[in-house]
Amino acid sequence: MNIDKKTYRLKPQVKIENLLPEIDQKKDCQRIIDGLLKNKKSIPSVYFYDETGSQLFEEITRLPEYYLNRTEKLLLAEVSTQIADGIKDIDIVEIGSGDCSKISILFDSIPAINRKTIRYLPIDISQSAIQKSANNLIDCFPEIEVHGIAANFLDQIRLPYQRKKRLFCFFGSTIGNLSRKKSLNFLINLKENMEPGDRLLLGLDLIKNPKIIEAAYNDSQKVTEKFNQNILNVVNQKIKSDFYPKDFNHLAYYNQDYCRIEMHLKAKKDLMVSSPYLENNIWIKKNETIHTENSHKFSPGQINYLTKKSGFEIKRKFFDPKQWYSIVELTKR
Ligand code: TRP
Repeated sequence: MNIDKKTYRLKPQVKIENLLPEIDQKKDCQRIIDGLLKNKKSIPSVYFYDETGSQLFEEITRLPEYYLNRTEKLLLAEVSTQIADGIKDIDIVEIGSGDCSKISILFDSIPAINRKTIRYLPIDISQSAIQKSANNLIDCFPEIEVHGIAANFLDQIRLPYQRKKRLFCFFGSTIGNLSRKKSLNFLINLKENMEPGDRLLLGLDLIKNPKIIEAAYNDSQKVTEKFNQNILNVVNQKIKSDFYPKDFNHLAYYNQDYCRIEMHLKAKKDLMVSSPYLENNIWIKKNETIHTENSHKFSPGQINYLTKKSGFEIKRKFFDPKQWYSIVELTKR
């Protein structure tokens, strides 16, 4: 997935490992092609996040309709005062760190003298996002040592030697972008990477009025549309295809049966797509859709089920006053 163009000069406290070149490019292309050849076409959502995609996603998080980010941050500010109490001598691993704005809220609640004893390990699929955000973070918290890892967190979590206790953070309801089965497997696998006493802070978007949820993925400024269409630019780079993103409408709706937002790209007209990786051209009919993302929403009962089934112990549960969002603190026994 190594298609970020920009590289940033890193501050001395920052070190970044890049595991992305280890991703098998051939397998990567095959996965895209397999999805496009299916009866119900789909593209794996990991391909949203090239440099442009990561930037567009940051824009999404600032949209008025996108309550997830705002709600989680307000909740995190509250949670942080409780969590930060006594945090020192610890490695904080953030999965899908993005712009690092969430972890900054936690760091804000930790006294500088304790921050000095913390190492922060952001993991993100976008190398440029990690470089940029690690540098910004150091401007605010120069005493923190940063060891970033550019990797696909689904199958590339490989952490440096464990010096200290760890606090894992997985925010943004990214767990909801996995299928129910994959989210369970992800947590089980993560737990296997943890030592007894290590903790996980997990952010999850809750089931609520579908109108509110749907508005979050259908913003009036059409940033989500651009984000959705941009996946085709990434596909074009990967398999040298000739998708024209504007040939597709953005479609996002709440699927009640699965308690999830589904995002699709819907063809505006009959289309033909070619790629040197394809034996035959792909024909796409007008109104045919390509499924690009799911965002599952959770009930408190589902959260209990998922976390317990994966073998974690729930230490604390936090909800915002409207019960729109939850952060749970889990431990490995
Ligand atoms: N996990 C977030 C969510 O489901 C982020 C996200 C993933 C997202 N894909 C998205 C947000 C597509 C908007 C559109 O909301």
